Amino acid sequence: MLEDIRYEFYESVDSTNDRIKERARAGEKEGLVISAGMQTAGKGRIGRKWQSPVGESIATSILLRPAGIDIAQVPTVTIIAAMAVRSAIEKSCGISGLIKWPNDIVVDGKKICGILTEMEMSEGRISHLVCGIGVNVHNRTFSEDIAYKATSIDLELEKANSTAKASCKEITECIWESFKKYYNVFLETGDMTNLREEYEKYLANKNARVRIEDPEGAYEARALGIDNRGQLLVEVGNETRCISTGEVSVRGIYGYI
Ligand code: ATP
Ligand code: BTN
Repeated sequence: MLEDIRYEFYESVDSTNDRIKERARAGEKEGLVISAGMQTAGKGRIGRKWQSPVGESIATSILLRPAGIDIAQVPTVTIIAAMAVRSAIEKSCGISGLIKWPNDIVVDGKKICGILTEMEMSEGRISHLVCGIGVNVHNRTFSEDIAYKATSIDLELEKANSTAKASCKEITECIWESFKKYYNVFLETGDMTNLREEYEKYLANKNARVRIEDPEGAYEARALGIDNRGQLLVEVGNETRCISTGEVSVRGIYGYI
């Protein structure tokens, strides 16, 4: 069970995921959260970059030491984190996002949050996991390459004519409290059995036509939902396939979702 969460904040780090890994290697206990006002080397999936400009967004990572889970269950942690962020953004700011499988939260078709879970092994076993979350909060503009698909909490509050004020600290704490709740439910069964229904309620891709960008060849499919391991179930002709996270990206046929 994840119980005690301890917060540390730094003005600037390279990557909060990397700072957690360093502490984990030095023997830190589960539950440490490191957040930063900016990252100089924020990371996304598959070697991509994550932009966390100074004072505009949340960059936060937690150290986990799950006992008795195996490598196949690790991608589910990202799925759970997505549920936690979606719920926390709704609770703290009133913004109802959706989950773009596997690791993004989208609002009105644009990405407001990305999640990166990393694992380190020792003597053939999982030594620790790091789950890192980036949320765009006060950003008003984005670089040209991501402007078409990125949004922030402030931009969405403005669109909704809301007077709510977003606080990075409050949202961060709300995210990890929510994560603790979902993660402990996950640990009971080691899979999505008790969480799958709620996840699918917020799955942006559900029933959508998607393009599966597999390094071995891209193809079109219809997204059906997820299985208990958090893999995406898609229908291709009469066949149902399970897509695991890995190197695969899922895109809408007409856009990002
Ligand atoms: P997928 O996860 O489906 O493969 P993705 O484009 O969301 O696709 P990720 O690896 O999840 O890719 O996220 C990294 C990408 O997110 C970067 O390549 C960049 O396009 C985009 N990105 C980087 N920083 C931000 C940000 N602050 N807000 C929104 N998007 C960002
Ligand atoms: C993605 O969308 O590909 C994942 C982006 C994950 C970004 C967060 S910000 C906090 C943590 N530190 C990192 O370097 N990456 C994650």
